Amino acid sequence: MCGIVGAINGGKVASDLLTGLRRLEYRGYDSAGLAVLQNDDFHLHKAQGELKNLEKLMKTDPIDGRVGISHTRWATHGEPSELNAHPHTVKNICVVHNGIIENYQDLRDKLISEGHEFLSQTDTEVIPHLIVKYQHQGMSVEVAIQRAIQDLEGAYAICVMDKYAPDMLFAARHGSPLVLGYGEDTHYVASDAMALAPITQKVSYLEDDDFVALNQHHVEIYNGNGTHVQRAISVSNIKEDDVGTNGYEHFMQKEIFEQPDIIQNLFFKYFNRRTLGFRREQININFSDLKKMTIVACGTSYYAAQTAKYWFEKYAHLPVEVDIASEFRYRESPMAKDGVALFISQSGETADTIAAMKYAKSWNQKTIGIVNSERSTIARECDLDLMIEAGPEIGVASTKAFTAQLMTLACMAMKAGIDRGALLSDDAIKMAQQLSELPEKMREVLDDKEIYDDLAELIKDHSTAIFVGRGLGFPLAMEGALKLKEISYIHAEGFGAGELKHGPIALIEQGTPVIAITPDDALLEKNISNIREVQARGANVIPVGDCSSIKDIGVSPKQAVKMPSSTGITMPILYALPMQLLAYATTCAKGLNVDKPRNLAKSVTVE
Ligand code: G6P
Repeated sequence: MCGIVGAINGGKVASDLLTGLRRLEYRGYDSAGLAVLQNDDFHLHKAQGELKNLEKLMKTDPIDGRVGISHTRWATHGEPSELNAHPHTVKNICVVHNGIIENYQDLRDKLISEGHEFLSQTDTEVIPHLIVKYQHQGMSVEVAIQRAIQDLEGAYAICVMDKYAPDMLFAARHGSPLVLGYGEDTHYVASDAMALAPITQKVSYLEDDDFVALNQHHVEIYNGNGTHVQRAISVSNIKEDDVGTNGYEHFMQKEIFEQPDIIQNLFFKYFNRRTLGFRREQININFSDLKKMTIVACGTSYYAAQTAKYWFEKYAHLPVEVDIASEFRYRESPMAKDGVALFISQSGETADTIAAMKYAKSWNQKTIGIVNSERSTIARECDLDLMIEAGPEIGVASTKAFTAQLMTLACMAMKAGIDRGALLSDDAIKMAQQLSELPEKMREVLDDKEIYDDLAELIKDHSTAIFVGRGLGFPLAMEGALKLKEISYIHAEGFGAGELKHGPIALIEQGTPVIAITPDDALLEKNISNIREVQARGANVIPVGDCSSIKDIGVSPKQAVKMPSSTGITMPILYALPMQLLAYATTCAKGLNVDKPRNLAKSVTVE
């Protein structure tokens, strides 16, 4: 949530700051702001709404300077307005902040009682006030910043300019990510390496509690104990192409269409191309004696976890408990001795998932992260990380990360099945064969994209849509509903079809769209009986299934998504595509912003 970029080059920084912000908009787009220091004064622009509003302002009234900081905001404290937009300036100090200062009210009350005057409703504004307060007590700016952050509770990544130190830029992190970038005669600070990808590939990832003082030529880093440290400079592998739409209309569309290649590459990572044998060395965990596994995640990653539970239990006979991170972290759940806990997170930075991982560590669990972002907090702090290798995902609604998580989890479940003797080698080979055919089937589904425009017309004007499925179709129904509601704003819910009669069926009115996930599996007949019950009450059922299942449901072929054949291990990955395409087409038909839905942000770094 919120993205920050700072730059210092002794010349002009504004264009680099805007370039960086463009790549951070996925973290929030309620407002944006940019401040530069030039001729001993701050010059500042702020604009409510998406970055393009700030860019307009920068065109009509350009500002530039030798050092600058900038911000794109996802509002936590205080409405999204120009007043609350960052940077926040108090006297000689100017600050941008990502995170939440939990004790800001106490700090603010105290500062007000000491004579400080506040202008915004943000938690952030306490930071420049504290720095100024400590400077007035005689501390240098470096010491004052380090002293100020001792007062802060919560999570933060900050970047600070001081009018009286015009050749310097300062940054610190606690709980929120921050990287340094090394360009030609320029140093950068940013929320992630992707922000800097078009400018520089040379980055250092700061550790928690690091404090940095930079000028154009030098970088000084101190750890939480105040010890001078070095952080390795690495070359990020994010390419310019990864952060563009590459001819697609939206990032979400591009990311949907990237999926077959991602799944194919993951297949080659986990299986021998020729023999289809499982490459066990790719998953360095022995599941043999495990009594139980816990999986924790948020949002779409949580539905991947729910799907994996079916797989681990069926193919590996391994009991799995799944929880959403925001509940798990406070539930005080006792964890099994020598247990394994899995944390699934595209960004690897979701605050609740990180906290849940820390809780599991306190119970001596072996922690495994399934992440997309290589140098993320979860990737660095878990005992073992399995990368899903989906490439940067920018659309706020997760698509390719979901199927890549599923593919990784499917492979893990197979490994667990082999380790535990629950999966016979012949069956493992058959499953590998099915997974090897998956990318081609995914391409087939994507080729049939026109149908979704017609289906979107059946959905777009309704205020409610219902997704149903059984077995592996149940978590997918919830994910399908999440996709639709988060970008089209249609109230959508996913249910286990067998549960409809216990309440949800009351929602059915004449014409209510019910998207029914109906693969030709062992539960098909039961599934169809449940669907008939909603049809009898006026639901407009849109089946997503095999030819045979669609025929049984008896809707017009134009109103159904015909899927290639699938099996238990491939179905959720293949059927995720129509869920995504349906949400995408409905949102486009409503003329809404696909990649930046209202109120959301992609990386949820606050509780
Ligand atoms: C946000 C995003 C979702 C994502 C969830 C978990 O809510 O909008 O798309 O599924 O966070 O994110 P993570 O990075 O932990 O997978």
